[in-house]
Amino acid sequence: MIMNMCEVTEILYEGKSKILYRCKDEVLILVKYKDSVTAFNGEKSDELFGKGRLNAAISNLIYEYLEVNGIKTHLVKVIDESSVLVKKAEIIPAEVIVRNVAAGSFSKKYGVDEGVALPHPTVEFSLKSDTLGDPLINVSHITALGLATSAELEEMKRLSLLINELLSGLFQKAGIRLIDFKLEFGRAAESGELLLCDEISPDSCRLWQIGTDCKLDKDRYRRDLGGVLDSYEEVLRRLQGVEL
Ligand code: TMP
Ligand code: ASP
Repeated sequence: MIMNMCEVTEILYEGKSKILYRCKDEVLILVKYKDSVTAFNGEKSDELFGKGRLNAAISNLIYEYLEVNGIKTHLVKVIDESSVLVKKAEIIPAEVIVRNVAAGSFSKKYGVDEGVALPHPTVEFSLKSDTLGDPLINVSHITALGLATSAELEEMKRLSLLINELLSGLFQKAGIRLIDFKLEFGRAAESGELLLCDEISPDSCRLWQIGTDCKLDKDRYRRDLGGVLDSYEEVLRRLQGVEL
């Protein structure tokens, strides 16, 4: 099946949660979601059988919803339950984090209790670097380092806020609060146009059940709360129940 869509030639890159395969068609990449889960820059890691399949299903559903709503993403075709074909893109090494509610590093850094709603969504960038631990980085640092132009960063910010509106609405219909999330953008190999890349899943979002504030995301793993796969399964089940 995979061979029909894309003749895989070799592993291009193996990350903490995905393997990227080079395809014969040079503008495509096959992404396989792994069952590995890591936290704290890989300090903590485990295998959770079925996690790859769940994240792939959740991310694919979200990307299809975003595409329908006018967001250009790297997604080309779902190949099997843990593999997708995507457009090759040069990833901009500045990750975008959008927050609706204080949590995680924001709460720690600024001394705000987790769960305090922010009066407006915040947008920040972090340098995509495992060796440096993805530090917070500002716009003038990003442009001075030549990682992205001001125009690209403005567009990434605009798209991220639009994606926040779309996803907050989607998750609300699923009975889930979108607390915060991380996005990655890339420049498409052929056209250079900005594409939403990587994944959107409970690994890259904080998702709390409306009414109970029960965590349904990777904080269950980071904080040893248990029930990681059950909560990912619950997110998928709820999203599948939303009429898109
Ligand atoms: P933070 O509060 O730890 O900065 O995380 C903010 C959001 O970004 C949260 O939804 C989890 C996501 N995230 C990632 O996707 N990858 C990462 O490496 C980190 C640290 C956070
Ligand atoms: N993404 C990072 C890791 O996998 C950190 C995290 O998500 O907590 O180690």
